Amino acid sequence: MINIAIDGPAGAGKSTIAKKIAADLGYIYVDTGAMFRALGLYMLRKGIDPSDGEAVKDNLSGADIDIRFVDGVQCVILDQENVNGLIRTEEVSDAASKIAVLPEVRKKMLILQRNIAAGHDVIMDGRDIGSAVLPDADLKIYLTASVEVRAMRRYKENLDKGIKADLEEIKADIRERDERDMTRSEAPLVKVPDAKEVDTSDMSIDEVVSYIEDMIRSIA
Ligand code: DC
Repeated sequence: MINIAIDGPAGAGKSTIAKKIAADLGYIYVDTGAMFRALGLYMLRKGIDPSDGEAVKDNLSGADIDIRFVDGVQCVILDQENVNGLIRTEEVSDAASKIAVLPEVRKKMLILQRNIAAGHDVIMDGRDIGSAVLPDADLKIYLTASVEVRAMRRYKENLDKGIKADLEEIKADIRERDERDMTRSEAPLVKVPDAKEVDTSDMSIDEVVSYIEDMIRSIA
């Protein structure tokens, strides 16, 4: 099995890039953020404050999260329901980042993620894939971009979807999320020494895709 790890901060383009590469090369794309988001959604639905670590831990075992692949597309299943369409809101994103600081939460996710990687050629994106989930990955990429560029991308995405957006607010959210993801004690976002850093600030999506595909072809 070939395992490719892509880590990096929110908005660096990980999922867009990883999806395209997976489709081109016939790998399965695993979006680990979606699993944390599904668990965040579960807590919100139960009326649990995602910052309340004790309450989250107490309710963890009740959340049944599974991943299925339908025509190569990942579906996150929460208690038998496909929640793909419900996990992309700012509220769920914020909840995911908050619950992700808990070691108990990360352990639950890590088992699921390793099981998927053991059975398929995968390109898996997240924050701790190269450092914790797949430390023996065949290739590790650290995808990044400046806060300004990441905020502008999100701003345009929102406008395209007809969602009202405030650039300064988005920038502040991104900084806050980076800070939490990078400074938590459990599996923080780090660039591991054997990861190849790719700064996408001044690159188009296609440029990044072909750059990484060249790297994969050289090792696969
Ligand atoms: O990649 P994303 O924005 O969908 O991730 C949502 C949150 O989940 C992110 O703020 C941090 C957390 N996360 C994590 O801690 N580890 C991962 N492997 C993936 C996501």
